[in-house]
Amino acid sequence: MAQLFPLFSTNIVVDQIPNNEKFKEIIVPKLTSSNLDTKAPWAKHCHTSQQLADSEGLDVLQTELQLAVESYFSYLGCEPFKYEIRAWYNVHTSDMYQQTHHHMNGDELLSGIYYIQFDKEKDQPVVFINSNNTFATALKYKGLHPKFLEWDTDNTPDFSAQIQEGSLILFPPCTPHYVPKAKEPHDGLRISMSFNVCFLDTIEKVDDTNN
Ligand SMILES: [Fe+2]
Repeated sequence: MAQLFPLFSTNIVVDQIPNNEKFKEIIVPKLTSSNLDTKAPWAKHCHTSQQLADSEGLDVLQTELQLAVESYFSYLGCEPFKYEIRAWYNVHTSDMYQQTHHHMNGDELLSGIYYIQFDKEKDQPVVFINSNNTFATALKYKGLHPKFLEWDTDNTPDFSAQIQEGSLILFPPCTPHYVPKAKEPHDGLRISMSFNVCFLDTIEKVDDTNN
């Protein structure tokens, strides 16, 4: 009996941060009173706005973020390790968007997006792209249309999760993704915090056996 193995999955986790309201109260007034014209160096072709996250308010989230990050690696069977979370805020008016990019630069082992303020009816979540499409592309150009490997934009296997305020998405930093503008114009701000989990060092095991 032949078997099909759909290999090499991308591990994306969607979680919910319980402290969102508390964090939102602290951070939204600060972000909305600042300049929306700044953007990250990588985002020069995007219509977007970023500012680095300092520690203000982050202590409210710290425990939940660490728990989510460490659960992700525990699920993969990794040993605990020392890491640093480097975060930035994205503040979008309804016409702002980010073109396809990834977060892999050096020591990043995991990336995340935490939705602080998000209109479920009008705003759109991040969209992840299938980067494993070389085989599907080859079949496509021969005029074949593989049912499970389709890559064109009309029938794409790109992934977008159902999210709400307080949702946290974790994904491998090499996963290409983009952020569409809102489904319709509105006056609200879509605010998220993106971050990378950067590897610092392994944790040495303490040998507690008595020799
Ligand atoms: Fe991103």
